[in-house]
Amino acid sequence: MRKMQSEIGSICCIGAGYVGGPTMAVIAERCPHIQVTVVDLNVERIAAWNDSDFSRLPVYEPGLDAVVGRCRGRNLHFSTAVEAAVAAADMVFLSVNTPTKVKGLGAGQASDLRWVEASARTVAAHAQGHTIVVEKSTLPVRTAATLQAILGETSGRCHTNGPGPTFSVLSNPEFLAEGTAMTDLANPDRVLIGGEDPEAIEALAGIYGHWVAPEKILRTNLWSSELSKLTANTFLAQRISSINSIAALCEATGADVREVAKAIGSDSRIGAKFLQAGPGFGGSCFQKDILSLVYLCRHYGLEEVAAYWQQVVALNTWQQHRIARLVVNKLFGTVNGKRLAVLGFAFKADTNDTRESPAIRICRDLLEEGSQLVIVDPKVAPAQIAKDLGQGPRAQGPDGGGGCGCGGGGGGGCGGAGAGARGWQMASNALEAASGADGVLLLTEWAEFGTLDWGEIAAVMRRPAWLFDARAKADARAARAAGLKVWRLGEG
Ligand code: NAD
Ligand code: UDX
Repeated sequence: MRKMQSEIGSICCIGAGYVGGPTMAVIAERCPHIQVTVVDLNVERIAAWNDSDFSRLPVYEPGLDAVVGRCRGRNLHFSTAVEAAVAAADMVFLSVNTPTKVKGLGAGQASDLRWVEASARTVAAHAQGHTIVVEKSTLPVRTAATLQAILGETSGRCHTNGPGPTFSVLSNPEFLAEGTAMTDLANPDRVLIGGEDPEAIEALAGIYGHWVAPEKILRTNLWSSELSKLTANTFLAQRISSINSIAALCEATGADVREVAKAIGSDSRIGAKFLQAGPGFGGSCFQKDILSLVYLCRHYGLEEVAAYWQQVVALNTWQQHRIARLVVNKLFGTVNGKRLAVLGFAFKADTNDTRESPAIRICRDLLEEGSQLVIVDPKVAPAQIAKDLGQGPRAQGPDGGGGCGCGGGGGGGCGGAGAGARGWQMASNALEAASGADGVLLLTEWAEFGTLDWGEIAAVMRRPAWLFDARAKADARAARAAGLKVWRLGEG
């Protein structure tokens, strides 16, 4: 029998990641009358969500620990018992990963929907009664048709104790950005709900209605909702590639990209947001979603449209290689054996996420050139960096080098390390990383990198020493005053 809106008492979310965890924590907090269970097949991840030490939650997001602390065990639960949670739920969110396919048809472009399909099959097999299935993952337009087909096949499933399950499929893409997820969720620009079943749409709108103003809850058809999410991300990414392209021109002409961004962003038709030039966009979404759009366009025979969007990714990749090349060129054409401090590895500040971080490509290029990288990031674990760079850290010690190995600090005592010094290691702060280094490369805009003491840092570096600031976050004037040569992205 179908349940009415007022009867939604139990939610299950499949996928306890960067979206599932924070999103469900906020729903649980705002809707104390609803039991929310977040499930995942990843046993370690669920254990981390249940850890009594909140600093060990698997997702670092400012404010998340406090919300989880208030709700966990009350009406917010993290579990690996996927089937039981699905069976108990009136509404199931699918918040699983949808990365770019790495092999097979559409490899390198199409979204890999295997986890979406698997979770839909789990819902089909274990749901009881009428269940609203909500696409929370970002999906190619028309994926809901696939879900409907999978769920439809089992609607007539025989139950010994009653009628088979029925389903309504909704699209409710998530627009949160990492690092600001909790405020984005608490005060969204809009909530988008696409669907065909008015009762299901209102049931979901009713949940958001506990804290989101009615005019911000947009209702569309399924396909518009799915496509709007992809398009929102591609438009945002396009602005970044646009400003990064102009940053390169600024460097060549003597203009300053921040002045240009301010001037053009003051036009209310353009707007000021998402015009910060940098090392290129990272994160799990932008590149994947553009590539997914490119694949869709090709599928529908829209080759020119596909080529247009493809260029947004190409420019982004170019920007990252360009920065690595520039560092090499400024350091007399070689970084072989040279120590470089890398400030920041996360794809943006206030997250521990490194997926598609610009730091990965830039560090890989510099490692390929034989440099010795010393990386500092307040939240990213060394094991993650090792995975991203495809190699473990160098051993610490007299030969492996906790410092530059020259023992000389700023006086220029380091005569350049040999081949044995190549690789990467971590340091706990910028000063330690910069000791004996020829360059400091700022890649993530963590607040702490904006307040560094450049006098202190310059004193321990080998001369001539460089600050390469790919985020224009550091105090360039202080760095110059301390005797460093400074390159800021987008400054001519
Ligand atoms: P994630 O990789 O952090 O989390 C996904 C989780 O789903 C993983 O823990 C995985 O183990 C789990 N999972 C996969 N298949 C499962 C199954 N069959 N049963 C149970 N658990 C399963 O991914 P994410 O960053 O949370 O992204 C999820 C979706 O949301 C993606 O489609 C993404 O594009 C979209 N999205 C992400 C963001 C973001 O900022 N990360 C923002 C908006 C939308
Ligand atoms: C993005 C979208 O913003 C969000 O709406 C969607 O739900 C998921 O994808 P996210 O990737 O978490 O969010 O972070 P975002 O703030 O968009 O930054 C993405 C990348 O672009 C980061 O590497 C960031 O440093 C970079 N960026 C962002 C710039 O280089 N310049 C800018 O002006 C803004």
